[in-house]
Amino acid sequence: MNLYRAALALIVAPSLLLAVSYAQTATPPQPSAHNAIVNGYQSQWWKEAVVYQVYPRSFKDSNGDGIGDLPGITSKLDYLQKLGVKVIWLSPHFDSPNADNGYDIRDYRKVMTEFGTMADFDALLAGIKQRHMRLIIDLVVNHSSDEHKWFVESRSSKDSPYRDYYIWRPGKPNTASPTGFDPPNNYPSFFSGSAWQYDSGTKEYYLHYFAVKQPDLNWDNPKVRAEVFDLMKFWLDKGVDGFRMDVIPLISKRAGLPDLTPEELKNVGNAYANGPHMHEYLQEMNRNVMAKYDVMTVGEALGISLQQTPSIVDDRRHELNMIFNFDAIRINREGRQWKSWTLPEFKAIYAEHASKLDVHSWDTVFLSNHDNPRLVSSFGDDSPAFRVASAKLLATMLLSLRGTPFIYQGDELGMTNYPFKAIGDFDDIEVKNAYKADVLTGKVSEQAYLANLRHMSRDNARTPMQWDGSSNGGFTTASKAWLAVNPNYKEINAKEELADPDSVYNYYRRMIALRDHTPALIYGDYKDLDPQNKAIFAYTRVLGPEKSLVILNLSSDPVSFSLSRGLKARAIVISNLPTAEKDLSNLKLRAWEARVYKLE
Ligand code: NOJ
Ligand code: CA
Repeated sequence: MNLYRAALALIVAPSLLLAVSYAQTATPPQPSAHNAIVNGYQSQWWKEAVVYQVYPRSFKDSNGDGIGDLPGITSKLDYLQKLGVKVIWLSPHFDSPNADNGYDIRDYRKVMTEFGTMADFDALLAGIKQRHMRLIIDLVVNHSSDEHKWFVESRSSKDSPYRDYYIWRPGKPNTASPTGFDPPNNYPSFFSGSAWQYDSGTKEYYLHYFAVKQPDLNWDNPKVRAEVFDLMKFWLDKGVDGFRMDVIPLISKRAGLPDLTPEELKNVGNAYANGPHMHEYLQEMNRNVMAKYDVMTVGEALGISLQQTPSIVDDRRHELNMIFNFDAIRINREGRQWKSWTLPEFKAIYAEHASKLDVHSWDTVFLSNHDNPRLVSSFGDDSPAFRVASAKLLATMLLSLRGTPFIYQGDELGMTNYPFKAIGDFDDIEVKNAYKADVLTGKVSEQAYLANLRHMSRDNARTPMQWDGSSNGGFTTASKAWLAVNPNYKEINAKEELADPDSVYNYYRRMIALRDHTPALIYGDYKDLDPQNKAIFAYTRVLGPEKSLVILNLSSDPVSFSLSRGLKARAIVISNLPTAEKDLSNLKLRAWEARVYKLE
């Protein structure tokens, strides 16, 4: 089954793009620090901030149990402040049995025991605010854990007041099946097998798009929506600054839950997203919650195409501020299979974003997170000769393209994919379930499965942060971390990089500072200067008289490049390799060289 595929196929009816105007019953949003219009865009703090994602399990262990925790993050806030990031996105920190590393929540108002206490959370938040940074947390409300008290109640009886908090259906009678039933329809789970789980207590099935232990909440029940809005307010009233919303386009299910067609089964993400009430529920959430606070929201937009993006993020619709669109990050895969890609295809994605999203629809830029392999291993060249240069080039690109940039922990050090050798090296439920479904049934050879996972397993990004050259990279004092530390921690670690002015970390710092001080890199127009070039990515960001030119050689070979448009460089503002070249009609770029010029 092709799961998690980038949503490319759906074309939305133009009428959907027209803003539906919903009555604003709530208090108007508090104004942000400044409300200027810049190049047509309403300026906002979350458009100007660089966001850094922390995966708490793997960031820093403070108590020697091998698992990262909240006091560990607090101990590293100076490191993050020094880097210059203004917003931290914390992956789930809530009470969870960890079937999917916290994306299965048992209690939305409690901190995961391994991560610490609510007092630890409050201390973390206070430390972030003290340093003039902000915190967004993960809102995982398409599903909960099966150990959440709502589900425990829900499964206890068909008459439970919580029964309709989840999606229960009778099976299709089949005397040949061990339970006497087949699942209610042909929906597959993203984590292999059917999306339906039979429950012998009440002899019905419940829906779970992800793991069996992640039952989907029933958003059509107004009580569920009220519960979600309440828990959001609980955290906002503590002072958090917004949410990253997990698989939010999946919350509204199709009426009657009909079987998917064979075509739809090729990309279930698209089929599950964009249900009939999705916009209605997001607008209701906005009226009830977001409109009352100065927050930032970013939806993980599985199944949302670029064409559909304005229907969620257009600021006149009052839904979400931004979404993650997966077109760029998934360019290197077909379903779960790694595939090659070309630079012109990659650049076309950014050009299309610039042309389809107008001043009302703000974009995001990201090429890594906890669900994807390491940035430098996927989009750069992680061989010893080019790792540092290519990691810096990627920093230049992420921090100068259109949209709010998201950096994933460790990418600022140029951390790489892990050299996985055997299935036992993995932790991820997606990997383990697919191993059972595909390898143990003989559909895929073990060798091919592992070779592919080395490129694209989520565990590549989940290995612990490499803080120094001591045992386990300084992540933990335990003899063993919950997931093995990459053996390259002696060469790649924060301590070395902080001390080295030429490190990837210090390059990120400079590049973040440059973006902060260059409004053209935030609000400027974007133009790709050579879309067909197979090695060079060259673009301008222009805001009135302020013009930045970015030139990147995304190849491991030297390339000559000439810009014959009368463009004149005034100065080189940053480069990842020393250079003084200013004649734009005759440039010699070394492998993975990146430069930003100020133009006349
Ligand atoms: C997306 C999250 O990013 C991923 O880690 C998780 O497994 C699924 N949603 C289910 O919550
Ligand atoms: Ca710990």
